Amino acid sequence: MERTFILLKPDCVQRRLMGRIITRFEEKGLNVIAAKMLVITPELAKQHYAEHVQKGWYPTLEGFITGGPVLAAVLEGLEAIKVVRDMLGATNGLNAAPGTIRGDYSSSRQMNLVHGSDGPEAAAREIALYFKPEELCAYEPTITKWMRAGDEK
Ligand code: CDP
Ligand code: MG
Repeated sequence: MERTFILLKPDCVQRRLMGRIITRFEEKGLNVIAAKMLVITPELAKQHYAEHVQKGWYPTLEGFITGGPVLAAVLEGLEAIKVVRDMLGATNGLNAAPGTIRGDYSSSRQMNLVHGSDGPEAAAREIALYFKPEELCAYEPTITKWMRAGDEK
């Protein structure tokens, strides 16, 4: 089992797509083990997007990501980091493949609805940035034995 961090960005909340997006992750077989709404401060935005702070386009990203409520969540499942990134699709919604979340719902490079951690280090760092350990509620769904054969490696 692996954990990843997702952020339903302000465009996702404003467009009332939260339910649809969470449903896609649940239907894939990922567990939501933490979730909360918040408004990201400029300080938190700089921590979250530390790798992009020096980029010329960072100020507009900060304005966007702090511009309305977001939903932060932790998903758990097999290869959750890769599975979620593949489900999101390419950064720019215009380039993202149909069938991906960004491909289906976004026509923007910035307003691409959902963030997902891009690797194990990022996942651990981002989960710790938004949640305390006691806020993570892992559980074993009783349907697990019907999701994947027991002898699959
Ligand atoms: O989210 P992802 O890892 O696919 O993309 P990124 O290259 O790490 O960029 C992080 C976020 O910054 C993107 O998801 C966009 O919302 C935003 N962005 C932007 O506003 N302008 C750009 N030229 C590139 C990215
Ligand atoms: Mg990225």
